[in-house]
Amino acid sequence: MGSHWKRRDVLALGALGGLHRAAAQEKPARIGVIGTGSRGTGLVRTLLDVEGVEIPALCDINEANLKRASDAVEKAGRKRPDGYPDYRRLISREDLDAVIVSTPWDLHARMSIDAMKAGKFVGSEVPAATTLEECWELVNTSERTGRPCMLLENVCYFRNVLAVLNMVEQGVLGELTHCEGGYQHDVRSLYVLPTGDLTWRGMAPLKYNGNLYPTHPIGPIAWWAKIHRGNRFTYLTSMSSQPRGAQKYIARRFGADHPNARREYRLGDVSTTLIKTAAGLTVTLYYDVQSPRPYDLIFRVQGTEGIYSGTLEKIYIEGRSPKPHTWEDAAPYYDEFEHPLWKRLGKAALQHGHGGADFITLHEFARAVRSRTRPPIDVYDAAAWSAIVPLSARSVEQNSAPQEFPDFTRGKWKTGA
Ligand SMILES: NC(=O)c1ccc[n+]([C@@H]2O[C@H](COP(=O)([O-])OP(=O)(O)OC[C@H]3O[C@@H](n4cnc5c(N)ncnc54)[C@H](O)[C@@H]3O)[C@@H](O)[C@H]2O)c1
Repeated sequence: MGSHWKRRDVLALGALGGLHRAAAQEKPARIGVIGTGSRGTGLVRTLLDVEGVEIPALCDINEANLKRASDAVEKAGRKRPDGYPDYRRLISREDLDAVIVSTPWDLHARMSIDAMKAGKFVGSEVPAATTLEECWELVNTSERTGRPCMLLENVCYFRNVLAVLNMVEQGVLGELTHCEGGYQHDVRSLYVLPTGDLTWRGMAPLKYNGNLYPTHPIGPIAWWAKIHRGNRFTYLTSMSSQPRGAQKYIARRFGADHPNARREYRLGDVSTTLIKTAAGLTVTLYYDVQSPRPYDLIFRVQGTEGIYSGTLEKIYIEGRSPKPHTWEDAAPYYDEFEHPLWKRLGKAALQHGHGGADFITLHEFARAVRSRTRPPIDVYDAAAWSAIVPLSARSVEQNSAPQEFPDFTRGKWKTGA
């Protein structure tokens, strides 16, 4: 990593104030967005409210989506961005400091790598890559070019996630032994267009079987477990249930004889992955997106002194909770251990997506770009968290055989340097 990118850590809570003040005096971050679909347009709208951000250029192959995002910028009283159908033209602009990639999964790594080669600071939607080769290429390109690549993992900035991080840092839960999380979100309606044609999300279950979207739950868990700050993921094993949901859903909506209802979908409805870390802590991770079910990221965080449950919004701390063996509400803990980022930005954030986390994520991205600081979720995190996609698929293929995580940091995980 180029030496001009100073390390700065979201886990070093005390360091935050000074850096925020420093960023306020620097030049604006000029950010281009590639992919202005539903998420990309949302990111553009949020960016318009982040201090010190300009959006001179946007890119999408879909004209209507490009226009919608450009209109949003203009309606906010800003200069209409230049629009491009070809991302290579956008990244070649000299006046951009950074690029955000918000296209379908298979395109993230290629676009991020090309953008770093063109001298841009990158923010990638999740996951950053879908193959191990891409994960390595992201790391190698970032090291060679000195350009950072931040994974825009917004769940890391949820209010409860950061309050738990604060508690973990202060030892409230003791030494962590186990975490559980899941992307459990019924997204079947996003598999098909009204015509019955499959979207890029609907194509994925045809091609892959494993955990295709691990970073929402693993990002917070990696922070709590100090991954790349003295700990690392060592290996995983994964298992998938039988595939039913995609086919059943399409048959119900478009008839059992519809060609897309007769295809063979590979993705099991419930994918379960177990991960071991160097420090001994274990992780259970679910990917469950094509069953009828309410949204739930789980977030069980267990340590030698107590346990937190995100599903229940409850906590139990031995010697502190009023009654032995009995949960208490987590809400007072969210207040007591509120993270400095939420104290500072919470009010502005709440008007934005994912309970305000989208605003804080982009604020952190823009701050890193402006102050030329290494981002809080860096290329090593992006690679290790995204590597669960190919590693889980390979484990499923091999009867759940254990798969070693590559050490993308080449030993630097021990010190977090
Ligand atoms: N962090 C979050 O909470 C969150 C939420 C939703 C989506 N996402 C992620 O955001 C990404 C986009 O998802 P979405 O829901 O917006 O999908 P979408 O299909 O609505 O948008 C994708 C956009 O990319 C464009 N595109 C495709 N190929 C392109 C190319 N070669 N060059 C330029 N543009 C191209 C499409 O035309 C489309 O406008 C995905 O990776 C998704 O996982 C993240």
